[in-house]
Amino acid sequence: MPRIIYVNGQYQPYHQAQIHVEDRGFQFGDAIYEVVACLHGHLADERGHLDRLERSLSELRIDMPVSRESLRFLMRETLRRNKLTNAGIYIQISRGMARRDFKFPKADTPPTLVIIAFPINFDNHPYVEKGVRVKTLPDIRWPRRDIKTTLLFPQSWTKQIAIDEGYDEAWMVDSEGMVTEGTSCNAWILTKDNKLLTRPVSCDILKGITRTAIEKICAENDITIVEQAFSADEAYEAKEAFVSSATGFALPVIEIDDHKIGDGKRGAITKKIYEEYCAYAEGLRGEQVKWEAGL
Ligand code: PDD
Repeated sequence: MPRIIYVNGQYQPYHQAQIHVEDRGFQFGDAIYEVVACLHGHLADERGHLDRLERSLSELRIDMPVSRESLRFLMRETLRRNKLTNAGIYIQISRGMARRDFKFPKADTPPTLVIIAFPINFDNHPYVEKGVRVKTLPDIRWPRRDIKTTLLFPQSWTKQIAIDEGYDEAWMVDSEGMVTEGTSCNAWILTKDNKLLTRPVSCDILKGITRTAIEKICAENDITIVEQAFSADEAYEAKEAFVSSATGFALPVIEIDDHKIGDGKRGAITKKIYEEYCAYAEGLRGEQVKWEAGL
């Protein structure tokens, strides 16, 4: 079945989908994005993702190209035209097309809106059982990681180094030796005294929508979260570790820099959080949480 991409008001066949070469997103990374999961036809935490999308736009002073209601419709229509019920939806909005110039174009320049739906096999996610092997590497990103911009080359570079060395993912580490997050996911460890640590929200990390839902799930399941930065050495000693994101939910980390985590298999708390998150994402348990930047 031919794939269909939404670009600026049109549904275009995959191989013909185009934006202009002088799009600000292409030349300057002057764009933001969101990734929303569709699990068995349910859009997981749609409200949270749209809240964060609007916040990213407002931080970069880009206008919302269509109303929130229209965007919700366009996401569903893109899924429908691609006949997808288990999928990721990628939304990208750039400042639009203008002659290359470092200063921003005129305020009436229309933003570029692209929506891509891609299949994800949530019922048989490869890393759920297998687990993720992580390498720690320096965090070389710009200081506004709280905004979900398309300035992703540092993450792409870092992930590729990890992959070249035989790992699946990288955890980025700040100048103080503390883990910030994964290249496209938030990082968590369960300490030997059963505290679930994740880095506090600041400009150093992206505040995950999945992370926010996991906070709620943990509160309901007597799992103690402590928002506290941790080092690679602390992570090596963890009982369990996992990463959270819209496309992976909560995937076990089984090895960090050649240190086996726990018994090298998915731990009980990670499994519990994963299962609870699946039920939550599908609308079987709990209400979607309210997402706020909280900085
Ligand atoms: N990435 N941290 C970073 C740097 C991320 O890129 C992501 C998401 C997250 C988790 O956020 P959320 O739970 O809202 O997905 C944390 C998406 C999935 C991506 O870039 O494809």
